[in-house]
Formats: sequence, C-alpha cells, structure tokens
Amino acid sequence: MNDKQLVALAAAQYVQNDMLVGLGTGSTANYFIAELARRQRDEGLKITTVASSTISAQQAQAQNLAIVALEHIGRIDLYVDGADEFDSDRTLLKGRGSDLVKEKLLAKAANEFIAVAEAGKRVDRIGQNYAIPIEVMPYAWQLAHKSLEDLGGLGDLRPNAAKDGFWITSHGSYVLDMRFANISDAQQLNTLINNTPGVVEHGIFHGLCDALFIAENGTVSEHWA
Ligand code: A5P
Repeated sequence: MNDKQLVALAAAQYVQNDMLVGLGTGSTANYFIAELARRQRDEGLKITTVASSTISAQQAQAQNLAIVALEHIGRIDLYVDGADEFDSDRTLLKGRGSDLVKEKLLAKAANEFIAVAEAGKRVDRIGQNYAIPIEVMPYAWQLAHKSLEDLGGLGDLRPNAAKDGFWITSHGSYVLDMRFANISDAQQLNTLINNTPGVVEHGIFHGLCDALFIAENGTVSEHWA
C-alpha cells in the first residue's frame, strides 16, 4: 500500500454511520472514496456524500455512494481532501486542479476537515514549490493581475493543455499562477489575495483544517488542532 492510500484509509476510519461526508479531489481523495465504498459494501456503512468536483462525483457514483448536490447542503460532518503543500501551521496550498471553489466551500462547511498528504509535501513557506493558483473572473483578469503584481506577485494566466488558449476552471474562471517572493507569511498573503477585486478564490487554505494526517514511509501521524 502506498503512502497516499495509507493516509486516505486512516482518514476514512473517522467516517461513521449517518454522516454527510465531503469528498475532495485528486489521487489521495480517490483512495478515500474507494475506501468509503469498500466500507459501505463490506461493513454496511450508511453515509451520504457531497463532491468537490465532477470527477469525484463520478468516482462516487461509479462506486454506488449516495451523493447530494452542493446547493442542497448547509453543514457537513466531515471533509477529507489532499493538498499540494502544507506547513507547520496546517496551512495548505491546493488547487492544482480546477475545483478550488467547491473545495474551499466544503472545507469551510465541515464540522471537521481532515487534510491528508505525504510527508514530501511539507514546506517551510506556502508557495515554496508551486505558484499560488488564483481563480479570477475572466473579464477582470488584467485588473486582478495588476493588483496582484502591485503586491509583489509574479506570474501569468495558466495556459490550457494544448497551449493554444487559457485554462478554464469548472466555474468558467481563468487561473493566475502567481509567486510572491516578498511575502513569506501565508496568513498575510491569504488576506491580501482575499481583498483583491476580481478574485473568485485561491489556493491558500488557512485556518480551515482541523487535522492534518501525514504519511511517511508507511506510517501515518495525525496532527489535530
Ligand atoms: C485539487 O484541486 C488539489 O487541491 C488536490 O487536492 C491536490 O492537488 C492533491 O492532489 P493529490 O492527492 O493527487 O496529490
């Protein structure tokens, strides 16, 4: 069993009957979804899920998990999702994919958000290995880009896979991938980007996760708030 699977299974142990469970997006989240399906099949676990992306909804549906739409929920019991980076403060960087908005909504709506990651994703400062993905309204991209540059950001619109246009998220937004060499404090950067007009959402998840489960060489450690 690899570390992604191991950490996903550790989080799945916290799922109990009658919970409404938020499903993250990515390869680690896929292992979590598969484990929920296994527990439903083998242990008779009774849960309802809500997905952070179409791809996760498809995974859940294919494995016979009950799904409700995001617009029909207020709170959820538990959200489990991966991350691209994490720091000592349990701040995460997410959003390599296209589903930041739903991911952050579910992280915020959850009574408990467990983030799951391999130890190799640990960083000293958020943004160390990846640019910060910042979703912007398409018509506002130049103005938002200018505001972010004024904060010290460097970066540009994310190209599409064919490199003949721009990346479009599930919500029809563009993505600016920006690096801020001048700001090392993730909380400060979170606030500054939140305050930028035209920004729909961004990949810094600060103060949202209740627990971070880290897998390293076949062992999982749990770090609760
Ligand atoms: C999705 O938008 C991302 O935030 C993922 O949660 C993150 O990239 C982790 O992905 P893996 O579990 O595939 O490493």
